[in-house]
Amino acid sequence: MTPVPAGGDGEHARQSRDDGRVRIFDTTLRDGEQAPGCTMTLEEKLSVAHQLARLRVDVIEAGFPAASEGDWTAVNQIAREVGGVYGPDICGLARANERDIERCWTAVEPAANARIHIFLATSDLHMKHKLGMTRAQVVAAAAKAVSHACSLGAQVEFSAEDSARTDPPFLYEILGAALDCGATTLNVPDTVGYSTPDEYGALVAGVRANVPGIERATLSAHCHDDLGLAVANSLAAARAGARQVECTINGIGERAGNAALEEFVMALHTRRSFFELYTNIETRELARSSRLVSACTGIDVPPNKAIVGANAFAHEAGIHQDGVLKNRLTYEIMSAETVGWDGVGLVLGKHSGRHALRAKTEALGYELTDDELTLLFARFKDLADRKKLLDEGDIHALMTRGPQRSGDGADVVRELY
Ligand code: KIV
Ligand code: ZN
Repeated sequence: MTPVPAGGDGEHARQSRDDGRVRIFDTTLRDGEQAPGCTMTLEEKLSVAHQLARLRVDVIEAGFPAASEGDWTAVNQIAREVGGVYGPDICGLARANERDIERCWTAVEPAANARIHIFLATSDLHMKHKLGMTRAQVVAAAAKAVSHACSLGAQVEFSAEDSARTDPPFLYEILGAALDCGATTLNVPDTVGYSTPDEYGALVAGVRANVPGIERATLSAHCHDDLGLAVANSLAAARAGARQVECTINGIGERAGNAALEEFVMALHTRRSFFELYTNIETRELARSSRLVSACTGIDVPPNKAIVGANAFAHEAGIHQDGVLKNRLTYEIMSAETVGWDGVGLVLGKHSGRHALRAKTEALGYELTDDELTLLFARFKDLADRKKLLDEGDIHALMTRGPQRSGDGADVVRELY
């Protein structure tokens, strides 16, 4: 792999050469949240952001500040609470215009590492029918927007929307212009989930080979799952040199969703000798992250979902059970513990009472006073109304914003509310 010299932003400074680390850019709170039925309250977004920090994602795309007051507030609050010096970079999305960029900057600025993510469509189809702009106008708009965002002091990511259907020479030209204006991350989204792994890998390789100075930037993949290929395409991109992958917990996102973070991460983790790549993710937080996002969005995880589905580590067939009892490796390619999956059945539901919740929290190591239990119970009922059955992971998720199993229930519940 070609070494990548240190660049301008904080992350580049920390990463002096390419050692095969792929940075995880989580967009659960932006691309994920904008999907139908996935809307979250401010409190829920904050819980998810804290959990993403615990999962050790590299970048949290916290929202689209110019879209609404609520989005701005959520991004700003996340920048303040989660974007510390040792925390993840906090990013906001912006269209390529001054108002969006300035709105975004005021929201992310409190973070120690604040990023503005500017996007502009580059396929002929989008430029003609959506933007009504020529190629030259689009390049000029991108250059102006990136320069403006850099002048504010932000790290800047530029996305050429619909890259996978963009004429490659034009893609190289616009990415080169964004790079020259100061963008340090260049993203080539497969916005409509049209690409295949071979094609998408070739797209990334083409950008690396044809954009002068590309080694100064981090190349990023952002794949949608319309053909069920988002994770495969992201893996192909990483093999071709992308060192940032954009993904969401449980794969939520526009239409069929984005690449599922847990699947991408565990593919690199489990097949490390094949990929020779790694991430900084704390894999034991994957199951908890999945449950929290499911609880906050009300979108159930299918039982057969890879990594985080209820059946992902269940062995039903007699032959399989026999094999696993003799040696787990016969039918398990990774351990349930590695992804933080406790495998315990579903036990609590909306008809469960305070006693059941008290027993469960005690079994999990939390000590709550009566007042604290009352607060937690209200939260539990609210979740149980949206989800039929709650398991231990959901209870942990409800407690997630405080210290785990510290015995200090007051902190846990105060944090939670
Ligand atoms: O899918 C897409 O192209 C996007 C961009 C905003 C990066 O979400
Ligand atoms: Zn997207």
